[in-house]
Amino acid sequence: MGFLIPFVFLVSLAHLSVSSTIPSTTDVSSSSLSESATNSIKMQYLEFANGDKIPMIGLGTWRAPDEEVEAAINLALEIGYRHFDCAPVYMNEKVIGNVFKKWIDSGKVKRSDLFIVTKLPPFANRAEDAEKVLKKSLADLQLDYLDLYLIHVPFAVPYVEGPFQTHENGSIVQSPTDHIKTWKELERLKTEGLIKHLGVSNFNERQIQRLLDNSDVKPEALQVELHVYFQQKPLVKFCKDNNIIVTAYSPLGSRGINKLLEGSGIEVPDLLENPVVKTVAEKHGKSPAQVLLRYITQMGVTTIPKSTNENRLKANIDIFGFELDGCDMKSLSDQDAGIRLVEFRNFDFFKGIETHPEYPF
Ligand SMILES: *[C@@H]1O[C@H](CO)[C@@H](O)[C@H](O)[C@H]1NC(C)=O
Repeated sequence: MGFLIPFVFLVSLAHLSVSSTIPSTTDVSSSSLSESATNSIKMQYLEFANGDKIPMIGLGTWRAPDEEVEAAINLALEIGYRHFDCAPVYMNEKVIGNVFKKWIDSGKVKRSDLFIVTKLPPFANRAEDAEKVLKKSLADLQLDYLDLYLIHVPFAVPYVEGPFQTHENGSIVQSPTDHIKTWKELERLKTEGLIKHLGVSNFNERQIQRLLDNSDVKPEALQVELHVYFQQKPLVKFCKDNNIIVTAYSPLGSRGINKLLEGSGIEVPDLLENPVVKTVAEKHGKSPAQVLLRYITQMGVTTIPKSTNENRLKANIDIFGFELDGCDMKSLSDQDAGIRLVEFRNFDFFKGIETHPEYPF
């Protein structure tokens, strides 16, 4: 089933084709290990209904400042990353776009080899604002189309080009949104060829169901927080039942979140120090981070760890050369603790957002 794609810098990707649209856990874990070779990084993919493939490991770019992100994207491309997760609210799409442009112009990578995701920001979560913001992302990223466009969050704030507007008491100014109207507009923009696949992020099951019930183009992807302490099993099952590919953000927890919560008194547990994770890691001779990522992918979920550090970038994508057994999977499954780390209401820049009618959590 698999075949090798020759790659730059002796990196090769073993290409695991999967037959069903959304593979069951069994399909995903039956990786073709025979293709493992020295100096190669294996990759697994999930398939959309039309056969397009999404690499199961991508690179997150949240809270990656310009100076760091340029070097990180270059390194990631050299290492073999092809899936990149962006967003206008991360304020770094221009820098990232410059790197894509250089790599594509030099012929080192083809546009069709890349899987680029970006998002409709909360300040444009309305039918009338979607087109200009999508076109801005495309211009900044220097691309003609996106592989996947997500509604970033279900709630909305007024259109701004700078920081979100706040009331005198510090709470954020909210704005109404109608998901169905926004979605219809995204469907239209997809028809124009600007988007290959449509999805949502941070939506709850009820909000996704409403889109499923009221759309021509069904949501094909959901990006949510998912890690060993917050495994979202019912939501993942709901998505599999509806042919929605799930992408896990903050798969390793997040130091970035720790910073955002400084002074709030909220403690974020360190996933990498979890004793079960450490034991499984020792058993396989892998790092705790690699075990956390392998666990998520064996759940049939794609994930986008963020790093700007070369060794961690390499380790985070090098997880398909080993497999967790049933016993490992069970112990890791038991670590689920319902601990949500990304709770928007706890972030200063979203103060008071929990009163928005579409607040998802
Ligand atoms: C802050 O002010 C806004 C606008 O006056 C109001 O709607 C909101 O309820 C206030 N929030 C708090 C926490 O008092």
